[in-house]
Amino acid sequence: MWPPIIFTLVLSAFISVLSAVDDFQFSSYYGSHMVLQKAPAKPVVWGFGQTGAKVELTVSGPHAWDHTHSATVINGVWRTSLKPMQAGGPYILTATQSSTNSSITLTDVLFGDVWLCSGQSNMAFTAGQLANATDELKLASKFPDVRIFQAALEQSEEELSDLAGVEVPWSRPTPDLLGGKDFSHFSAVCWLFGRYLYETLKFPIGLVHSSWGGTPVEAWSSQRALLKCDLKGSFRSSLLWNAMIHPFLSMAITGAIWYQGEANTNHNRDKYNCTFPAMIDDWREAFYDGSGGQTALDFPFGFVQLSTNHKNVSHDGFRDIRWHQTADYGFAPNPRMKNTFMAVAVDLPDDKSPWGSIHPEDKQDVAFRLVLGARAIAYGEKDVPFQGPFPTDAVLYRDIVNITFHQEIKARSGGYFFEICCSEEKLCKSDENWQPVSIKSFGLDFVSISIPPCSVAAVNAVRYLWTDWPCNFKACPIYSSDGLLPVPPFIMVINK
Ligand SMILES: *[C@@H]1O[C@H](CO)[C@@H](O)[C@H](O)[C@H]1NC(C)=O
Ligand SMILES: *[C@@H]1O[C@H](CO)[C@@H](O)[C@H](O)[C@H]1NC(C)=O
Ligand SMILES: *[C@@H]1O[C@H](CO)[C@@H](O)[C@H](O)[C@H]1NC(C)=O
Ligand SMILES: *[C@@H]1O[C@H](CO)[C@@H](O)[C@H](O)[C@H]1NC(C)=O
Ligand SMILES: *[C@@H]1O[C@H](CO)[C@@H](O)[C@H](O)[C@H]1NC(C)=O
Repeated sequence: MWPPIIFTLVLSAFISVLSAVDDFQFSSYYGSHMVLQKAPAKPVVWGFGQTGAKVELTVSGPHAWDHTHSATVINGVWRTSLKPMQAGGPYILTATQSSTNSSITLTDVLFGDVWLCSGQSNMAFTAGQLANATDELKLASKFPDVRIFQAALEQSEEELSDLAGVEVPWSRPTPDLLGGKDFSHFSAVCWLFGRYLYETLKFPIGLVHSSWGGTPVEAWSSQRALLKCDLKGSFRSSLLWNAMIHPFLSMAITGAIWYQGEANTNHNRDKYNCTFPAMIDDWREAFYDGSGGQTALDFPFGFVQLSTNHKNVSHDGFRDIRWHQTADYGFAPNPRMKNTFMAVAVDLPDDKSPWGSIHPEDKQDVAFRLVLGARAIAYGEKDVPFQGPFPTDAVLYRDIVNITFHQEIKARSGGYFFEICCSEEKLCKSDENWQPVSIKSFGLDFVSISIPPCSVAAVNAVRYLWTDWPCNFKACPIYSSDGLLPVPPFIMVINK
């Protein structure tokens, strides 16, 4: 899935970018059927041409009054920003180069919101791999205004200004494009996210997918971001940032969604609480700068917290990555990760998945939870619950620990989903000092758990869902009061 560095690929990518300079064309990720970011952004459009030539770009469409923007080709590249356009279309974009009097045209262009989708194999997992793929793919034609684009798998030692390859050019969705070869195109999570979002927003959505299975966060991070975490030039770092993210920086986007972390369960795991937030910060700065301020400096960033992998194994790193995905807060957004949203997936295990249990087949719930987060965080909808309840306090009362949540809960007692450590903090790093305890009772916004057979004075910390595979499907013990959103895993000190 993630072969060793292939230098010939990198070289051919470089040559194709160079040879493009002689031709008058749009850059690789502008095409007919595309979605350009709507107002208030002034989306950037750019391409290649003859140095010194003037380029005029005309936008014509349904509510138009055509209008024209001009640019000059500098070092083989022209670039202009459109005026802000309301959602809708279709429009025609025509670029004309003065020196050769040649024209190039994009048709069926819409204005709407553009979302970038990235990560590893659970993001690459296609709509054709869903359990009910046949039914899902049939719906493609009902969503002609959700448009898709996918970058090809490329890696580079240098930051590329344009993509070295395109897997799916901008297209209206079709069953064939959505249900391509396994893990090729098109991402189920990205597609479902766009489709559900369209159902609430009712305007065009552009989905830009750029993922690679088996890849660690370091591959998607610039050297600048890695240095923030004291990681330098390490193996495979930045190769996908260079080839599959950097080229998109000019494009104005609304936000990004991300499904990755499995590959870091055994690679710089303890650094993920730094590398992941640092990558988000760095992408935000880079997209802001690259688009001349047309992408927000704090653009919304959604992610899926890891689901499950191994039943009955507690030491494979999934629990640590889940925690580190939240910068060790347990929830998102949080003070370190502002304007983010998280889809919890720990309660969506799948030991029957034909793709291996690390690839749960159910992507609908994950996409649904992401869309709740997007509605609340990216679109500012009030009263959209998007986070499960999270604990505000754990207090010892005689022989119980009372854990209070920030929202009302739906709970059941029994089970061994909590563990308590009755040792000093240092010793709590070791699993053998944690003992399983059960939920004795619960109220509107709290649960009371028993304490293990240890001295009350020694009771120190509590943790919840702290194994790889803690619950059966949608059967964790505590949810939001409507039963939809699980309490995410947490670890905290007990007050006495
Ligand atoms: C440029 O092309 C257009 C359309 O093909 C033509 O009408 C026009 O005369 C040309 N102009 C020049 C300066 O060649
Ligand atoms: C496919 O299955 C999921 C999960 O059970 C369900 O939510 C979804 O509605 C189904 N899709 C279609 C198109 O029937
Ligand atoms: C990240 O996690 C590691 C390992 O648990 C911990 O030692 C470190 O203090 C954490 N760093 C941050 C910034 O939270
Ligand atoms: C996992 O643990 C459960 C309960 O402890 C047990 O019933 C089950 O057989 C175990 N499964 C495997 C695959 O070991
Ligand atoms: C636990 O906390 C809740 C909320 O603060 C409170 O209503 C309840 O009485 C407490 N339970 C015990 C046993 O103290």
